[in-house]
Amino acid sequence: MIDELAKEIEGARRSFLHELEHVQSPEKLAALKERYLGRKSGIIGRYLARLKGVTPAEKPVVGQEINRLKAFVEEALAGARDALCASGRPQWQDHSLPASDLPVGGFHLIAAIQRQIEELFLNMGYEIAYGPEAELEDYNFTKLNIPEFHPARDEQDTFFLEGFDDLVLRTHTSPMQVRYMLDHRPPFKIISPGKAFRKDDPDATHSPCFHQVEGLLVDRGIHFSHLRGTLEAFCRSFYGSGIVLRFRPGYFPFTEPSAEVDISCFLCGSPAGSRAQGQSGSSPAGSSAAGAASRLDPDCRVCKGSGWLEILGSGMVHPKVLANCGIDPEEYSGFAFGMGIERVAMVKYGVPDLRLLYENDLRLLGQFG
Ligand code: PHE
Repeated sequence: MIDELAKEIEGARRSFLHELEHVQSPEKLAALKERYLGRKSGIIGRYLARLKGVTPAEKPVVGQEINRLKAFVEEALAGARDALCASGRPQWQDHSLPASDLPVGGFHLIAAIQRQIEELFLNMGYEIAYGPEAELEDYNFTKLNIPEFHPARDEQDTFFLEGFDDLVLRTHTSPMQVRYMLDHRPPFKIISPGKAFRKDDPDATHSPCFHQVEGLLVDRGIHFSHLRGTLEAFCRSFYGSGIVLRFRPGYFPFTEPSAEVDISCFLCGSPAGSRAQGQSGSSPAGSSAAGAASRLDPDCRVCKGSGWLEILGSGMVHPKVLANCGIDPEEYSGFAFGMGIERVAMVKYGVPDLRLLYENDLRLLGQFG
């Protein structure tokens, strides 16, 4: 009995192979599969049914033979199918297969952050104005109250353009303030994102080309608390609702007074302390990180234990700048701010070295697309 069955199984294997060789269409292949593996009347199923008549001693041997045939048939069918599909002939194209993964592009981290910032200010009613990268020296410096012998104009810092006496690669996005004020009458509020250039040697925090977002609002009766409220609203949307701002006295020739702005560390700064201050809305400018300080992590990878992160420069537009741009400082006042996008990326996502943002390694950039 057992020999007979084994012979039959071997015969079935051969005729299967013979039939498989002649398969030309997907329908024929499906029919062959059904004939051998079909649940009800498949040849292999029928062999399995015959196992009942086999003695217990012989059962494992015969069972194994049948299983081997089954595995052989399954593998051969799949192999034939793959080979025929790969032949590319139209009747073998399987439209039910899932699509293969297409590599999809995404925004570079710097572009993505720029868009997030734009989105937040658009929601606050700001317009976006883009300016040129090759800028008049007059707008980049003079009209911004940076006089001719100011150190910021030093050849060490500025890229001059050969053959163009009056042009520089803009060293910041602030000349866009000038362009906009020369062309528009208040009230207005804009942000202006874009590239800026300084003759810095590349290191972990410097690059000769970098990105900034400038902000400018001019209207009647604008004072420092408008600046503060705006930056608070922005930072809380962008970094988290528990963020506290700290304004430190600063100096920029085109703002007076000027302030450097820090935010409480969003990683280790005390959320409880920050929220309490934030909700009251009365935290005085320059308030310490008192609430935050109690819980600071001295090894924090974001703030290095200080509790604060320096994020932007700001101030009230200098009356001379307004006047230089044909706006009467007796009638109007305004505020301006500028932040570095690379800095934002490094702070927000813990990017340890600015150069990583320019090396275009997809292992880094792919995490943000
Ligand atoms: N332009 C300044 C810089 O590049 C930043 C700034 C912009 C400061 C607007 C005050 C107001 O550092």
